[in-house]
Amino acid sequence: MKFNRIGVFDSGIGGLTVLRELLSLVPHTDMIYLGDCARLPYGTKSPKTVIRYSLQCAEFVVSKGIDIMVVACNTASAHAIPNLEKEFAMPVFGVIEAGARAAVRTGAEKIGVIATPATIKSGAYETTLKTINPNLKIYTKACPLFVPLVEEGLFDDEVTDIIARRYLDSLINSDIQTLLLGCTHYPLMKGLLARIMGTDITVVDSALSIASTIAGMVEPGDRKSKSRIVEYYLTDISPRFIELGSLFLGHEMEYVYEVDLGV
Ligand code: DGL
Repeated sequence: MKFNRIGVFDSGIGGLTVLRELLSLVPHTDMIYLGDCARLPYGTKSPKTVIRYSLQCAEFVVSKGIDIMVVACNTASAHAIPNLEKEFAMPVFGVIEAGARAAVRTGAEKIGVIATPATIKSGAYETTLKTINPNLKIYTKACPLFVPLVEEGLFDDEVTDIIARRYLDSLINSDIQTLLLGCTHYPLMKGLLARIMGTDITVVDSALSIASTIAGMVEPGDRKSKSRIVEYYLTDISPRFIELGSLFLGHEMEYVYEVDLGV
């Protein structure tokens, strides 16, 4: 397939973990990133609200002329994919299946999943993991404080460490072999999480897996590198987002615009 422009959205900074992999694996394509920072977090909201917000985000990225949509938010992926597929005539990729596949590839029999309360409540990971392998044992834990900590840039802070140990305790006691980061914000704290889980537990996320899937769909002749434009749209611009985002992406976020989704 030939993609001219990929649209990626998340509630905030977390989707940049997916965008970063897309930027490296799909070098030729323009990209649009929307962060709905004004309404973050999605993960503590009801399915109805998450679906409404997701449809509004999708409508915006589609208005920018994209030809493929990546829902770089597990919470939106867990609740809104059928609505988005119904509404928009283009390939729509969520991150749940990519994350589940990455976890299964580790060969673990016991998998721990951490995510926002809305994603855990949806049961999306259990369903997807069990579809891939019905014999898996799955342990889940909602971690509502992680998203605000990441948005504050406290990726590796003693406060985050204390909270993470409390959340992860039950998973460690369940003898999981793989920890799946079921929220696109969490890879930003991967170092801290991996340290707490210890060397015997593999920590995986969906970012690389989804980016590889999309890269694999690109026509080989179209993979050559050429200059491209990446535009960032935020429903609320904070200097912290630009600072942390540029740091994480490893380059300056050049084209950043504030957008009003009209709600
Ligand atoms: N990064 C998002 C996710 O993957 C959502 C975080 C939030 O807004 O609660 O679930």
